[in-house]
Amino acid sequence: MQQNIDNPVVPDINDILPKMASGHEEDIRPGKTVLVIGSGGREHAIVDALSRSARVQKIYACPGNPGMARHATCVDISATDVPALVEFVKEKNIDLTVVGPEASLAAGIADALQAEGRRVFGPTKAAARIESSKEFAKEIMEKYGVPTGFYKSFDRYEDAKAYAENLPLPTVIKYDGLAAGKGVVVATTREEADAALRDMLLDSAFGQGRVLIEEFLDGPEFSFMCAVGGRKVYPLALAQDHKRAFDGDKGPNTGGMGAYSPLPFISEEVREKALEEILQRTADGLAEEGIDYTGILYGGLILTKDGPKVIEFNARFGDPETEVVLPRLKSDIYDLFDAAIDRADHQTEWSDEACLGVVLASDGYPGSYKKGVALNFDGCRKVYHMGTSLKDGELQTAGGRVAMVTGMGKTLQEAAANAYEDVKKSATAGIFFRSDIGKQVLK
Ligand code: AMP
Ligand code: GLY
Repeated sequence: MQQNIDNPVVPDINDILPKMASGHEEDIRPGKTVLVIGSGGREHAIVDALSRSARVQKIYACPGNPGMARHATCVDISATDVPALVEFVKEKNIDLTVVGPEASLAAGIADALQAEGRRVFGPTKAAARIESSKEFAKEIMEKYGVPTGFYKSFDRYEDAKAYAENLPLPTVIKYDGLAAGKGVVVATTREEADAALRDMLLDSAFGQGRVLIEEFLDGPEFSFMCAVGGRKVYPLALAQDHKRAFDGDKGPNTGGMGAYSPLPFISEEVREKALEEILQRTADGLAEEGIDYTGILYGGLILTKDGPKVIEFNARFGDPETEVVLPRLKSDIYDLFDAAIDRADHQTEWSDEACLGVVLASDGYPGSYKKGVALNFDGCRKVYHMGTSLKDGELQTAGGRVAMVTGMGKTLQEAAANAYEDVKKSATAGIFFRSDIGKQVLK
């Protein structure tokens, strides 16, 4: 705090109006009303972070989940019902809407709210193509020199097969479009590659039929999320997801079984390089293309022996990374959203504490599973709900991934110990979890 030398009793104006200095003079009214769209763990973590904001008075979530109800009023409007959401924003005079799921972006929620002159943190449909079209993402990366694997795209099976036959194994085959995480095959044999190409190009199981065949990149994966407002890039803390269902990275791919932050295996030098050469270059590239990006740009990166490279971009907060990143955010998340929308300067601040989260999933997930298993999180310190519901006042499972039990600590070891202590309290028959989240770095 700056001392007022003339009159020490008069407090510094910056302490009364802390946002005055950050360029939001017209926007310093206290008591903002915020809407968070979505119903998963990611959105629960966003609600949680907003509940710590000095600027936020009221939080709504559409449709929300039982875990959020502590801090937000949940309103049963679907995350993809754009007309109803727009009506709701107008009716409640929402100051800021934060979009969680990609499906809402694909449905055009940001476009519709912007058209009404409403403040929204989340990209337009055109901007969200960085996630929804892998080919578009590759074109941007190629044009603006963003490090990624080489690729070629095909819409005819015969051409794709001929190309794939001459490539070294493993070969990566990706369906070009949103495929709910099922559109990527890392083929280790020619037969697997051929089967994937047949599935995606001949059987039209995925819809429109177009694939990318991509260079296999080798190294540890990590997630680098940045808030972006035009050319302004505001980095968030790094995190690592665990995508396979079972311990030792075995079993099928899932939406993510656990995560932790920070990442001891990423040096500051590598982080800087990824920020400049990947996230900033991509934001600049999108701006060059006339695409006005507002929202999270999520870099799914891999640290190869030639440095960090892009596996994929997402146009939204990652799940479950958000649940371990946002608890470490010390600065006000409303200020971050505000700054991105206004393309204003803003510095995020992060806690030195580590956060680690373990996903509780329904037996059978990612295949079929039963719902309605009773849940009890008594004594757990921080649980983000992913797929829960209330029936007659009782909490029960309502999804494949049920909840993310998180622990904080001075070190990742301590965070892991705290998380697993709470997992023990809450895990029950019908639920499974990985017991090795963060293990690679906890040795
Ligand atoms: P994606 O849906 O693009 O995130 O891909 C799912 C997973 O497939 C990634 O998390 C990686 O583990 C793997 N993968 C995708 N692309 C590549 C690649 N080019 N090289 C190696 N692994 C990849
Ligand atoms: N954790 C990966 C994702 O959100 O896509």
